[in-house]
Parts: sequence; C-alpha cells; structure tokens
Amino acid sequence: MKHLLSTEDLSLTDAVRILDTAEEMAAVGEREVKKLPALRGRTVVNLFFEDSTRTRISFEAAAKRLSADVINFAAKGSSVSKGESLKDTAQTLEAMSADAVVIRHWASGAPARLAASGWIDAAVINAGDGTHEHPTQALLDAFTLRRHVCALAGRSSTGEDLRGLRIVIVGDVLHSRVARSNLWLLNTLGAEVTLVAPPTLFPVGIQAWPCKVSFDLDEALADNPHAIMMLRVQGERMNAAFFPSAREYSRTWGFDDDRLAALEATAGKDTIIMHPGPMNRGLEISSAAADSPRSTILAQVRNGVSVRMAALYLLLSGEDTATTTPAQEAT
Ligand code: CP
Repeated sequence: MKHLLSTEDLSLTDAVRILDTAEEMAAVGEREVKKLPALRGRTVVNLFFEDSTRTRISFEAAAKRLSADVINFAAKGSSVSKGESLKDTAQTLEAMSADAVVIRHWASGAPARLAASGWIDAAVINAGDGTHEHPTQALLDAFTLRRHVCALAGRSSTGEDLRGLRIVIVGDVLHSRVARSNLWLLNTLGAEVTLVAPPTLFPVGIQAWPCKVSFDLDEALADNPHAIMMLRVQGERMNAAFFPSAREYSRTWGFDDDRLAALEATAGKDTIIMHPGPMNRGLEISSAAADSPRSTILAQVRNGVSVRMAALYLLLSGEDTATTTPAQEAT
C-alpha cells in the first residue's frame, strides 16, 4: 500500500491488517507507553482545506505517538486564499520534507488526484474528500464494531472480519462520505448494511449500491441490528429543497428518546449507537441516545488514534519489509 485513498479499493487482507495493527497500537497505549520510535525522523503534513476537529487532531496525536514530526496546514489563513493551487501547495509542503500528506478537501477526488499526479512522492492519506470517501473514519468504525462484538463473544478481535453483522446507517446518505466509506468497507468485511434516509437524501443510482435501502427507520430497527450508525445532517452542503423540516426529520429519521426507549424495551440488548461526529443533537440524535451506555461515540474517537497510527505505520514503515511489530518496537 503506497496511499490510503478509499475503502472501495481496499482488499479484505489490507483491511484486516490495518485493524490488527490498530489493535497492537491500542494494546501498546493501554500499557501506558506514550510513544513508539517507529517513525522517528519522518514528517507528516496535515493538509486541511475543510474544517475538522476529530480527524485532524487524531492524525496529529497518532503521528506524534509514533515519534514523527507533524506540520499542520489549514487552508484558512494560508496562501490558498491568494489563489495558490493544490499542486503548488503540496509541492511547497513536500519541499519541507513531508513523507506523508494527510489531506481533507472539499472536492471529491482531490486526494486521488494528488496521489496520481506525480507532483509529490509522499504517501497520501484521504482524511475526507467532498461527498466521496472518509476511509479512516470507516476503519475506526469497523475497529469499534469488531472490538464490541468480539468482547461480547469473549474472544480476541485479531484476524476477525465482520461476517454476520447487520448494520443500519441512517440519515443524510446523499452528502455522506462516511456512509460511502462504511458501506464499501462493511461489505468487504462481510457485514450486511441497510441504508435509511428520506427519499431526498439518497443519491441517484442508490439501487445499484450493495445494500438494502429503506425510508422507514422503525422497520430497519425492528430487524435488531448489531449497530445503528447515525449520520450528521450536512446543512452546509444542502439547500432547503433537500430537507424535510427539522421537526419532521427528527421525528421520522432521528434516533430520538422514543426510539431509544423502544430499543431498550424490545431489541437485542447489545445494539450499539454510533455517530462519526460532529453531532447535531436534537436533530439526527437525541442527547439521551448520544450519552447512553449504548453509545460508542467517544470510543470511536479514542479508537481513531489507534487506527490512524496503524495507517501511518503501515504506509511509512514499509509494511512489506518491516521486521518488527509495533509491540516489539515498544520494548
Ligand atoms: N468524523 C469526522 O470526520 O469529524 P471531524 O470533521 O471533526 O474531523
């Protein structure tokens, strides 16, 4: 693997390898080892053309825990506002010795363009591009799911896929790179996905996607899924024509207090509630649901650091030639 651009083109072997490496990273962290020397002397550039809290900070934390140097670049306040191109921006950063560029961009395809262009030699990691993909979010979601189901079954996660799991993804599918990356990855890992949304928030061609499609959240919940993944309503990417009223949306497609109560009363007691963040509390998810013991929202954030450490480690340490595991490097 030279780059991490999407989950659509990620093989089962590579996906499980990233998740297993993330388990090793998490295990090292749980032993209270603060830093591994694996990427000492390497430089990771966070190149963010869109706002971020979780992804940018967790890539920074991940790189620092692997002893890499980190350069944070936000387009706001940079020479991008003077019209500097992606090519010139990326080459300027590589001239400062970037070994990996973690890029978030409003344009779908920008990370793939950067990786294929030959403008830079650095490894490129997609940290979210337009409505296209957010692969490390899907990997941290899969990691969280895998840990949850394996802990319930009393077995180790390592080497496991997600065969037999039923996952319901709910909300603004039209604009969601998280939904797309999750759909591809969950399929590769063997899980069964149902997408639920208002008709106006499904993309054209949804029937060809490898999943069930529904407008009815309560019907999907009646199937007793292993996880319910609520999506953020992306108000910044839509106009009023897309959207039912906020009241109708939260009543019909939100995970509200009534649905939480119904889940507690009737569904399998182990169903978890996921959200990639940031949340619109009271719209797609109620505070009671977001803060309930079933919620894995903060676990997802924590797991994001381990997954991003794994991605950086595998891309920059030379996975094919690496002779030590992250755990061995900690000793
Ligand atoms: N989930 C996610 O990508 O969050 P941020 O936009 O805060 O990075």
